[in-house]
Amino acid sequence: MSSPPAKLWGGRFSQSTDAFVEAFSSSIAYDSRLFRHDIRASKVHCRMLGRQGIITPEEAEQIAAGLDRVQEELEQGTLAFSDALEDIHMHVESRLRELIGPVAGKLHTARSRNDQVATDIRLYLRDEVDAMGVGIRGVQTNLLALAQQHIETILPGFTHLQNAQPISFAHHLLAYFEMLDRDYARLIDLRKRLNQLPLGSAALAGTPFPVDRVWVADQLDFEGICQNSLDAVSDRDFAVELASAAALIMTHFSRFSEELILWSSPAFGFVELSDAFCTGSSIMPQKKNPDVPELVRGKTGRVTGNLLALLTLMKGLPLAYNRDMQEDKEPIFDTVDTVQGVLRVFTDLVPGIQVRREAMLAAAGEGFTTATDLADYLVRKNIPFREAHAISGRIVRVCVEQNLTLDQLTLAQMQEVDPRIQSDVAAILTIQSSVNARVSLGGTAFETVKKALVEATKRIA
Ligand code: ARG
Repeated sequence: MSSPPAKLWGGRFSQSTDAFVEAFSSSIAYDSRLFRHDIRASKVHCRMLGRQGIITPEEAEQIAAGLDRVQEELEQGTLAFSDALEDIHMHVESRLRELIGPVAGKLHTARSRNDQVATDIRLYLRDEVDAMGVGIRGVQTNLLALAQQHIETILPGFTHLQNAQPISFAHHLLAYFEMLDRDYARLIDLRKRLNQLPLGSAALAGTPFPVDRVWVADQLDFEGICQNSLDAVSDRDFAVELASAAALIMTHFSRFSEELILWSSPAFGFVELSDAFCTGSSIMPQKKNPDVPELVRGKTGRVTGNLLALLTLMKGLPLAYNRDMQEDKEPIFDTVDTVQGVLRVFTDLVPGIQVRREAMLAAAGEGFTTATDLADYLVRKNIPFREAHAISGRIVRVCVEQNLTLDQLTLAQMQEVDPRIQSDVAAILTIQSSVNARVSLGGTAFETVKKALVEATKRIA
């Protein structure tokens, strides 16, 4: 058996680490994914040390070239991982030493793993935030394309899952467009606070070496520098913000999923999802189950849980760094992976939604969905809305008793309830007229929805 690699921090220790404790405290199994960001930051750091005369420019170039070689090995998966080396930072440095010798030891001058890991996570999350933004725009684009085909497709709008008022299906889809637009805006906003450089804070107090943090920030495309060294190494609020934005993204997709699940059930029959997003049953031959939306709905719990895990992780920590913070990685990575997966799946799923126009329209006519239009009609005859509401309600009751829809009642039957109802009522009781009456800004009239679509398309152009 080969002897375990020597600890880079082993100087003050006389006994070796317990083997189980090594495995218990190691994070390499999951933080290895940070290697590109770790090496990128290390190369800038060592070049800064060279420019500032803290090490020689030749040493800096030797280290940077060595880091490139370590990166190649990591890209190819040829570098072996060991719990004894704890994390990705130690693996990179230890391999660097094997490749270029003792000069590798100069890389960690004026730096600590505390500001190093904080920098790595920010660089990593910045990339992920950008990718999520692209993903959200992709789903929005496909929502707009589907909406474009369904401006005049009518379905019942619901409250309490009871038929409420008829609406345009495009209008319904645009509701999700708006949710996603705010999700996008939240990412843009949190990115500013995420995109600040911790490096140069060293362990917690700063460093006596004449580092140039501004140059490092500039090289790594950070917008600014964390202003306080204790804060820089010890807060993870940027990760909490991302987890929170992610939980909202998931919540929005979970609601959409829930609707797709309901709508694709034979009880509704409003849509059919493409076979690629469904599975069958091992016992019931007729089944086509909406597994993908169900999984999205299910995964929302994970992401919300990750937000809670991060908040709970941080709440009791004294300044500055504590090892507890290593536990931020798995919730962060799981959040990012889950959201990226959901964005991809929805981008592909939306164009394949087959809409059953007739079923939607038929349902829109059920449940007296134009009763509000009848009340609004009476308001235009100068009857106060509360009274008009009561009259319309009594007419609905007549319909329920006689098993008729509102537009099947004769004028005489309506006038029995209230003589102020005239023959012009017929024109306002149809589903189409109900939808098209709602011309208020943000409403569901076809013309209003058309304009909303034009505006939404411009917004994401
Ligand atoms: N793997 C550690 C983490 O993720 C890196 C920082 C370790 N710092 C320390 N002082 N032990 O937090």
